[in-house]
Amino acid sequence: MTEPIVADRQRTGPGTATPGREPGQDGAAIRFRAMTKTFGSGEVAVHALRGINLDIEAGQFVVVLGPSGSGKTTLMNVVGGIESPTSGTVEVGDRDLAGLDDRQLTAYRRDDVGFVFQFFNLVPTLTAIENVALVAELVGEGEDDARAALESVGLSERLDHFTSALSGGEQQRVAIARALVKSPQVLLCDEPTGSLDADVGRSVLGVIHRLARARGRTVLLATHNSVIATMADRVLRLRSGEVVDDVLQPNPVAPEEVTW
Ligand SMILES: Nc1ncnc2c1ncn2[C@@H]1O[C@H](COP(=O)(O)OP(=O)(O)OP(=O)(O)O)[C@@H](O)[C@H]1O
Ligand SMILES: [Mg+2]
Repeated sequence: MTEPIVADRQRTGPGTATPGREPGQDGAAIRFRAMTKTFGSGEVAVHALRGINLDIEAGQFVVVLGPSGSGKTTLMNVVGGIESPTSGTVEVGDRDLAGLDDRQLTAYRRDDVGFVFQFFNLVPTLTAIENVALVAELVGEGEDDARAALESVGLSERLDHFTSALSGGEQQRVAIARALVKSPQVLLCDEPTGSLDADVGRSVLGVIHRLARARGRTVLLATHNSVIATMADRVLRLRSGEVVDDVLQPNPVAPEEVTW
């Protein structure tokens, strides 16, 4: 028997903002205003993002869909302080990212955002606990916190295994633990299931979803896979650097029920 994977949907206009609210004083965790990102200039300029206006509420689980080259990774990198906008503003909590100097931006990247990538970016010659402790130490947390983060993703039996000897799903869970040990406000996941099969991918999505919900974290998750969008509170669709669809889903599908 197949369950229809159709969540209740409620369409908002692209770039719907919550009127009359100030960042940092309300639920808006991330606020974009007329934000553009252009790579290069003149004839070779690539307009990766063309005027993004959005308010992402704190605690929202947002899936960003769009074809290859539509700007998903660029959007994540701007929120993560890896790329700076060409024009317009991005505010995360009460910080205007463009207003941060290099030192503040480094602190922001280190303390306030967690990244989970398609390929896990783990250090293969370190064990699971060492990979997570590396980041824990950077932000002033200890090995106990690294251990707790690995336990929260179900890896207490794998702490002392080299990550090169872990399965794809286990490696991605180490990467999630590493992102979460910082206790970031915002978790950025770029194709986190792209290199995993459906079963393992589903369990990784479940881990991200459960932890984000339990801790009230805001999640931006980019994927090509529109089925994954059924578990989101909100789905943004990018095309050629613009938000072409923005839909709220009051009754998202549980991650365990997502199939692809
Ligand atoms: N560092 C860069 N220099 C020049 N152009 C870039 C750079 N990064 C991205 N681009 C261009 O910006 C556009 C958006 O790229 P982006 O990586 O954000 O797309 P994407 O939606 O993540 O694609 P994919 O689904 O393939 O990962 C593309 O045309 C890409 O070629
Ligand atoms: Mg990408």
